Amino acid sequence: MPRDSTEVIPLSESFDLVIVGGGPGGYAAALYGASAGLAVALVEKGRLGGTCLHVGCIPAKELLETASVYRAVLGAGRFGITAGPPEVDWTVTQTRKQNVVDQLTNGLSGLLKHRKVTVYDGVGSLHPGHVVRVAGGASGEVELHGEHVLLATGSVPRTIPGFEVDGRVVVTSDEFLSLDRLPTTAAVIGGGAIGCEFASVLVDMGARVTILEALPKILPGVDEDAVKLVQRSFKQRGIEVRTGVAVTGHTPHEGGTQVALADGSTLDVELVVVSVGRRPVTQGLGLDGTGVVVDQRGFVEVDERLRTGEPGVYAVGDVIDTPALAHVAFAEGMEVVRDLLGEPVVPIDYSRVPWCIYCHPEVAFAGHSEQSAKDAGIEVVVSKHRYIGNGRALIVGEPEGLVKVIAAKRPDGTAGQILGVHMVGPWVTEQLGQAYLAVNWEATVEEVSRFIQPHPTLSELFGETVLSLTGRSLHG
Ligand code: NAI
Repeated sequence: MPRDSTEVIPLSESFDLVIVGGGPGGYAAALYGASAGLAVALVEKGRLGGTCLHVGCIPAKELLETASVYRAVLGAGRFGITAGPPEVDWTVTQTRKQNVVDQLTNGLSGLLKHRKVTVYDGVGSLHPGHVVRVAGGASGEVELHGEHVLLATGSVPRTIPGFEVDGRVVVTSDEFLSLDRLPTTAAVIGGGAIGCEFASVLVDMGARVTILEALPKILPGVDEDAVKLVQRSFKQRGIEVRTGVAVTGHTPHEGGTQVALADGSTLDVELVVVSVGRRPVTQGLGLDGTGVVVDQRGFVEVDERLRTGEPGVYAVGDVIDTPALAHVAFAEGMEVVRDLLGEPVVPIDYSRVPWCIYCHPEVAFAGHSEQSAKDAGIEVVVSKHRYIGNGRALIVGEPEGLVKVIAAKRPDGTAGQILGVHMVGPWVTEQLGQAYLAVNWEATVEEVSRFIQPHPTLSELFGETVLSLTGRSLHG
């Protein structure tokens, strides 16, 4: 039976499910499992909520919102509103961010308590026989037994040689989100989701930013047309994007550092942000004598039902090699619960999960890009429509951006099933929902074109783009 977390726990307490890691993957499994009547224990060594809540999605989007308010004040004159030049009180910004994080963390603790999930504070490690040992935290040394065990220990930022993280001149996302002041110049190494989001915050708040990306283009996985628009907006706002470059090291000096590139050039900046991906955390997780296999890159190996090599032991989230997204971890946590309850499981199709990147302009997509469909040997029909022709986009003053729908080409040349939707522009992260459903429901363009889009909304552009693929159109 579950018990209150304040009780003294005897050795070898037994649960239906013992979860190691209280981030989105772990806590989703805990809440969903407990709501299905399972006795659940959750072991967490830090604060509940993991990367997403403390050093990821939530604080990052909160700072991006601050940047958005700043932009809105700067642009208020276009609406006939006179406002003085905005000034940032970074202390207030950071306090607000922390208040949002704390409110969500408290809410999560309350939910877990309400669902009677027993939370253990400490480092959990897995041993043979489904035994999880907890040590090094407020819960002391405890041994738990789970009929099932879930590993959800997450990931940490990757670093690169020559760029030792000191939290002052060189930071990763962990430190960036809590900087006590903003730099006036910055180099962002890595132009993925994190790099583009942070570059966007920095430039909007007045810094000069250079993105240094090793590959030929930024935003891996995003459709070429969307990337071009992001790059154009970045350029207009003062972000320099340098692709195909390699950094070799840096030499700190008073007030900043000089970054060295392989082509012999240098870049003087106050701050270096390293955003070159994340690596899974399995250190200290035990596993000796169990059938759990960790691959060479450090990921726990699982099958399509998220089962590890040890019967009854599962793994989800960033510790496995699936997209490092909180919402993917939520889905995986729930899938594990269904599987261990013996319910039918539909394995997640990772090629169609929703992606949302909250830089300005926002990017959102699900399913194939035009290129990835072609690479997969699929013949496609594509339609693109721009927000410049959308009433709401003009009203809100954000006409930059487009919706691109990629559909399978039928033998007669017409557009059939919707394979992918890639969007860039105003509030596309909030608009992706119906595009995601269309892709994952394997809907055809005719089916989706019959749905009514409310007017005037930004989402009309999705409807318009799909409609045009039927061979007829209204505004586009
Ligand atoms: P990422 O893997 O998305 O991008 C890293 C970028 O760094 C790549 O473009 C890569 O080519 C480049 N890179 C790697 N080594 C480099 C080097 N030495 N020099 C220059 N460039 C180099 O990783 P990122 O942006 O750090 O994000 C980590 C994870 O977090 C991602 O898997 C992403 O799924 C997730 N995430 C998602 C967000 C979202 O969806 N809004 C926001 C933040 C993170």
